[in-house]
Formats: sequence, C-alpha cells, structure tokens
Amino acid sequence: MKQAQWLSHFETGIFAALDQKRDEWIASGKKVYNLSIGTPDFQPAPHIMEAMTEACKKPENYVYALKDMNETLTAVKDYYKKRFGVEVTTDEITSVHGSQEGIGHIGMALTSPGDYAILPNPGYPIFEAGAYLGGAQLYFYPLKKENGFLPVFEEIPEEIARKTKFMILSYPYNPVCAVANDEVYEKAIAFAKKYDIIIIHDNAYSDIIYDGKKGKSFLSYEGAKEVGIEFFSLSKSFNVTGLRISFAVGNREIIDAIKLLRSQIDFGMPIPIQKAAVAALTGPLDMVKEQCAEYQARRDALCGGLRKIGWNVPDSQGTMFVWAPIPEKFHSSEEFCIRLMEETGVICTPGYAFGSLGEGYVRFALVMPPEKLREVVRIIDESGILK
Ligand SMILES: Cc1ncc(COP(=O)(O)O)c(C=O)c1O
Repeated sequence: MKQAQWLSHFETGIFAALDQKRDEWIASGKKVYNLSIGTPDFQPAPHIMEAMTEACKKPENYVYALKDMNETLTAVKDYYKKRFGVEVTTDEITSVHGSQEGIGHIGMALTSPGDYAILPNPGYPIFEAGAYLGGAQLYFYPLKKENGFLPVFEEIPEEIARKTKFMILSYPYNPVCAVANDEVYEKAIAFAKKYDIIIIHDNAYSDIIYDGKKGKSFLSYEGAKEVGIEFFSLSKSFNVTGLRISFAVGNREIIDAIKLLRSQIDFGMPIPIQKAAVAALTGPLDMVKEQCAEYQARRDALCGGLRKIGWNVPDSQGTMFVWAPIPEKFHSSEEFCIRLMEETGVICTPGYAFGSLGEGYVRFALVMPPEKLREVVRIIDESGILK
C-alpha cells in the first residue's frame, strides 16, 4: 500500500532509532531515564476526577455532545476573567480536542490557495503540520538565542507579510523555554493590523512560568481580539493530557471558522470530559500553583546540577522543559542523544526534531522529581560524556 504523497512530508526517523536503542537498553536490564516526552507525572486534582467519574455513571452522558454545553463555555469565560482579567463572550470560545488537534486543523479553517503561514523555527511540530495540512505556503521566522528566542518582526520580509494569512506565536515556548515580554505581543498586534494577518497564540504553559513571573493571556493585550485567538489548553496546568481538553478563545469570526470546520468532522467534546473541564476551571487553583513551584525545583535541580558538572545549560524561564545546547565536541543533536542514551540510559529529544534552528540543542522534559533529576546529573557526570 502506498501512502498518500503528502504524508511523506512527515518523518519519524530519529524517534524510531531512539525507541530501538531504548528497547535494547531495557532488554539488557539497564535503567532508563526517559526525559523525552512532555507527559506530566503529576496527577489531576481529585475534584476533576470525581466530576468525570460522576458524569460517567449517567447513561445520558454517552450521547454525541454535538456542541459545547453552556456550562462549559461559561466556565471558560469566567476563568478568563478570574485568571487573566480578560472579558470574552461565550460565542468567542470553542472547545477543541487538545490544542494539538485545534492547531492541526487551523490551516484548513483559515488558508486559501497562495496564503502564507508565518511560523517559528524552532517550532513545536504541530504548527508546521497544521499550516501544511491546510495548504499554506510556509515561512519560518528564526528564534535566536541572541534575541532571547523572541521574534524580530522587522526582519520578516514585507512581500511575505502581505501574502500571509496567519502567524503563530507561543510563550512560554516549548521547546526553547523562553517567556515573552509585553513588547512582543504589542508588536505582534501592530504587525497583524498593518498586514491584515491573524495571530494564533498557543498558550499551553501559562501556569508553568518561573522566578515569580505570571503567565498572561494574549487576549489581555489591547487590540488582540481584533486580530487573533489563543489556544488555551488544560493539559499541563491540570494534568489532564489524555482527556484532550483545550479551547480556542478570541476573535469571533475566527472561532466561527473553526466551529464550521469542526462541525463537518466532529461531534463535540464528550460530556464527561466537558464536566471534568468545568470542575478544573471552576475549582480551587492551589494545586496549579504548587505544581509550578515543584517544576521550578526540578528546573533548578537539572539546569543548576548540569552547570555544576560543567555543562552550561541556562535556566528555563517557563514550560516543563529544558533547552540545552549540546556539548561542543558533538557535531549534531542526534549524535549526542544517541550517545547519551547508550552511555547513561538518559533519553532526551534532539533539537532538530523542532526544525533546523533546533540543531545544536537537546530538550529534556521535567517529568521526574528533583532527587531523580539529581541522580540523572550524577550519572551523566560519572559517564564522562561531557569530558
Ligand atoms: C507548545 C505546545 N502546544 C500544544 C501542545 C499540545 O497541547 P494539548 O495537550 O492541548 O493538545 C503542547 C504539548 O506538549 C505543546 O508543548
């Protein structure tokens, strides 16, 4: 069977190679430290699980949901006010099955032939996939260390900007772990207005941000709702990655386009999952804050620990990841990942999986408690791989 030609755009090579190495390593009885995947090891709060369990006990909750319940939309609306100080109306909100699915379909909802999408490099992979699947032409804006991994709008060619339908921004940003200042959002909105571009902000990590900073919503900036939307995911804040709960929030015309597309391919977020979302958004938020402090302790254990053994890894400003430049003696992130796996059992993700400017870096996920991460640091040190 030959797959559709356009599927050849997607590669899985390095992950298959790493999986094979990992399986060999486990088969030989050795211990693996898997820091490659961003699935939190924390649990959802009891009130979220209870709401879902109760909803699952009722037979009437097994029908097609077809649309978001008023209760769900109101919970999002109230949360935006409470958490971000942002006023939205319920027709400016729609659920998606995780930001991954929402962004995966965004190109189909927005682009027409000839339109460009402006995307970050390094980029979280669904950004490119979502634009590509919608037939957009792709233009990548570089995120460079010397610019704090922030976009430089002045460097985006005018002829591209004029043909662009949407631009994606995301802070705190996976994989580079940077946080944006207000100026970035203000410039994004001005740029969008100048060239009639839609801004899509992926806000997956608003609650995992360090050193006393507070995660914001793109919609809290003046004029944001005129030009864009934000994907607001519950996955990482509330440890419900497997439930697939996220909402697109913002400009009503864009939300209507997403709803129209989804009405053709989907019958809505299951009712028990909507109930879990309502419980998360209307319930206490102290666990979310405690968890952020725990992520910061993990960040300190890994970044600080690695610096102590001679690997100059900067502190992440946000997200549940660490973005580490590979030690100088290695030529590629793939070479380093494979050697690290072979010599220590520590698995990380090669930066080039996030685009050409990810080369030279690897990404670690902070999915283990500080004491385990200190063990990881010790094993890396003892292996001699950095020498
Ligand atoms: C930047 C970014 N956007 C979106 C997602 C996907 O979020 P969701 O679970 O809502 O699909 C992730 C998950 O790791 C992410 O890192």
